[in-house]
Amino acid sequence: MNNVKVAVEKVVKSFGSLTAADNIDLDIMEGEFLTLLGASGCGKTTLMRMIAGFETVTSGRILIDGKDVTHLSPRDRNLGMVFQQYSLFPHMTIAENIGYGLRARRLPEAEIRNRVREMLELIQLPHLAESKPPQLSGGQQQRVALARALAGRPSVLMLDEPLGALDQKLREQLQEELRRIHRETGSTFLFVTHDQEEALSLSDRIAVMRGGKISQLASPEELYLRPANDYVADFIGQVTFIDGIWQRSTGHVTTAYGQRLKAEIELADGPVRLAVRPENVRLAEADAPNSVNGTLVEMVHQTGTTTYQVELPNGLMVKARQLGLREARLQPGTPIGLHFDTCKLAFAQI
Ligand SMILES: Nc1ncnc2c1ncn2[C@@H]1O[C@H](COP(=O)(O)OP(=O)(O)O)[C@@H](O)[C@H]1O
Ligand SMILES: [Mg+2]
Repeated sequence: MNNVKVAVEKVVKSFGSLTAADNIDLDIMEGEFLTLLGASGCGKTTLMRMIAGFETVTSGRILIDGKDVTHLSPRDRNLGMVFQQYSLFPHMTIAENIGYGLRARRLPEAEIRNRVREMLELIQLPHLAESKPPQLSGGQQQRVALARALAGRPSVLMLDEPLGALDQKLREQLQEELRRIHRETGSTFLFVTHDQEEALSLSDRIAVMRGGKISQLASPEELYLRPANDYVADFIGQVTFIDGIWQRSTGHVTTAYGQRLKAEIELADGPVRLAVRPENVRLAEADAPNSVNGTLVEMVHQTGTTTYQVELPNGLMVKARQLGLREARLQPGTPIGLHFDTCKLAFAQI
């Protein structure tokens, strides 16, 4: 796992006056599942297309297995691609679709048959070998597209929002399937999504992108626990920002609404922006010692947890998450106390 599979070096892409990739450096390690995550328009597809060779670079270099491929055509880079649209050939059988690229490369017929069978087993659809794509569900078609992309044993499999057209339940199934296939093949996966939950559940590492730049590249845990900036903190998971003045000698931040919050942060004294996760805020009775008073605005029940939205007197909305169903006595409008855990996440105010 210590070899660099793909190296992106100082890559810039301009479309006229727009910079879609702004001096990007990125190493993708052999066998890893790396995700480009970011809002629509931040440059994910452009970066992937440059690695695949469908888009030229304005400047910079791209290496695959240590070899400079910057000016090679896509077919000389040996990469597999899967898109949101399944793009299978409707008149060909599933087996023919999976073997299509191998046939184009003129592999011996016996080897093609073997690989197609192997791929059908990998996606657990051997019984559909002779069906045609229109007879398959969306999820099945996307598994076939995956098999077709993997059949040529690509050095990297690239997936651009491949689950975007599927409903939530199916997405979750396919995510599990992708994790299994990644594990079983040991291939290098480069995945693109704008969905943070999807990125968190699939990836070894995530590159959070913003405006053509990589804002932070790290494991899901690292991004959540140690976001490099407030953008990442807000993008990965939920967060409430609370501005205040930090004083190391007292270990407290005095907030704009007057309350002092305990903190353990590595910043110089002065204005800071605390980032508070919902699981680090607990509900208390109104006027409880060391708590902040607010008014309950809304409760949202998710699987296994309830998120309470509480408005502080200065209008700031704070989210608090607790395990279990909501407590019946709590109604919107109820005065409530909030207890903040020692805050460990903060950024310098600019
Ligand atoms: N062929 C193109 N010509 C001009 N602008 C483009 C082209 N492709 C992408 N862009 C622009 O580059 C930016 C990044 O696009 P894209 O890589 O598709 O973002 P993402 O995949 O993250 O949604 C966007 O502002 C988009 O409009
Ligand atoms: Mg895109």
